[in-house]
Amino acid sequence: MHARSDSSAVAHSFSSAGVRRPAPLIFLHWATLILIALVVGIAFVREGIEEKAVRAVLINLHRSLGLAIALLAVVRIGVRLAKRPLPSSAPMSPLARLAAETTHLGLYALLFALPLIGWALSSANGKPVGFFGLVTLPPLVEEDEDLGDSFAEYHEAGAWLLLALVGLHAAAALFHHFVKRDNVLRAMLPAWLARR
Ligand code: HEM
Ligand code: HEM
Repeated sequence: MHARSDSSAVAHSFSSAGVRRPAPLIFLHWATLILIALVVGIAFVREGIEEKAVRAVLINLHRSLGLAIALLAVVRIGVRLAKRPLPSSAPMSPLARLAAETTHLGLYALLFALPLIGWALSSANGKPVGFFGLVTLPPLVEEDEDLGDSFAEYHEAGAWLLLALVGLHAAAALFHHFVKRDNVLRAMLPAWLARR
């Protein structure tokens, strides 16, 4: 706990000071961050590679990991709904809470929309979409080069939007932790890190 000069803030924050997010949500949250870093990293590395065989391996990995993100998002939303309502992790103004919740909603939406657009873009370009070589998914749309180009643009724009929202969201979390010195980030950290 951090010392606060404002005693009402201490009293108010006391109720949320020890709040922790449920362990499955914490695991899914950080697993998703790692997967996004891999998926985006692979897409960018692939841009700089000429070799066709390597490009094919990388895009298949990109697709499989991208679909894994959507799968985790399904599980995560299930857990999130089952655990609702989550207790507040720190006192916050209604405006700050609205901003946080809107960002979270946008992030959840993109965790579905981006993989779906990626799948549609692959189908439109006549490319099969596999999941780690285990299954091949049916095409989402008919082959159509122009449609493929449009989906590719949406996919890229969506990826930038996701990165921008993640940046905003992570900055807000760090602001809570280092400037406001409240419990928001701690509540989302794995137990071994939160204890430090
Ligand atoms: C959250 C998950 C995903 C993220 C963040 C993501 C992000 C990206 C990024 C940043 C690029 C490079 C943008 C460009 O230069 O075109 C890209 C390209 C691509 N992604 Fe994804 N992607 C995701 C999921 C998927 C999935 C699930 C699939 C397919 C099933 C997919 C298929 C593709 C394809 C085919 C390209 C190449 C597009 C082109 O040739 O222009 N992506 N993705
Ligand atoms: C360094 C990166 C990140 C940090 C520091 C961070 C931090 C946090 C923290 C502290 C919370 C809890 C907020 C609260 O209790 O109200 C949270 C929630 C959340 N984060 Fe992140 N996050 C990061 C990356 C991501 C990424 C990559 C995504 C997904 C694209 C994401 C999606 C979410 C969502 C949807 C919630 C809301 C959970 C819920 O209540 O349903 N975060 N994050």
